Amino acid sequence: MPLQRIDKILSNMGVCSRREAAAEARSGGITVDGETCRDVSRKIDPEQSRLTFRGRPVGYQAHVYLMLHKPPGVLSATEDRSQQTVLDLLPEEYRARGVFPVGRLDKDTSGLLLLTDDGALSHALTSPRHQVQKVYEAETDGALGQADIDAFAAGLTLRDGTVCRPAGLEIRAVRGGRSQVTVTVCEGKYHQVRRMLAARGAPVVTLRRVAEGPLALDPALAPGQWRPLRQDEIDLLRAGRN
Ligand code: URA
Repeated sequence: MPLQRIDKILSNMGVCSRREAAAEARSGGITVDGETCRDVSRKIDPEQSRLTFRGRPVGYQAHVYLMLHKPPGVLSATEDRSQQTVLDLLPEEYRARGVFPVGRLDKDTSGLLLLTDDGALSHALTSPRHQVQKVYEAETDGALGQADIDAFAAGLTLRDGTVCRPAGLEIRAVRGGRSQVTVTVCEGKYHQVRRMLAARGAPVVTLRRVAEGPLALDPALAPGQWRPLRQDEIDLLRAGRN
């Protein structure tokens, strides 16, 4: 394992920011192999050295797991010649590590997007076999009602004949010919939620993913902001995905 700076290890693992690591080291809260370490620029092998932060051991993760609040107008891709991608919103070190988005959100969709360099976990989360639930909040141009809830629950047939699995539709408000709805799907067909709502005569005006499997979008993240997943969140994602 290549040597890495202590502050980088701590921030990659979601323990604290680099700035907090430096402050903590100054006050003696970081140890390496039992010795207090006041210099977070020191490089260690995270798999060999015993690192603690405020008395707690920091378990090294071989992979990176990030939660991004994707803003609209950004591509769910790792690179593009002319348009901004979600990788452009992250520090360069993540690109070098081979981090990529888990599945896709359309360019105009915002909300929860996971990024990782763990191909196995990404595959498990996106494989149709696992039917991971995804929850979206949408505003539609068109009033939706009980008949639409029933049609979603029965499994919609889209305009091109594609048949969808049963899905959840909750209508939160209908005002001025527009509906605020929550849609829950367990598959990921191309433009699925937009096409489902369009099939009921209520095209999407805005669409935001608020949850994927056991993880909800962190309300502390503004559009464009991201953070590493905590260990308990990684464990939740892994549970039942093997
Ligand atoms: N469904 C869509 O239509 N778009 C997305 O980005 C995600 C789900």
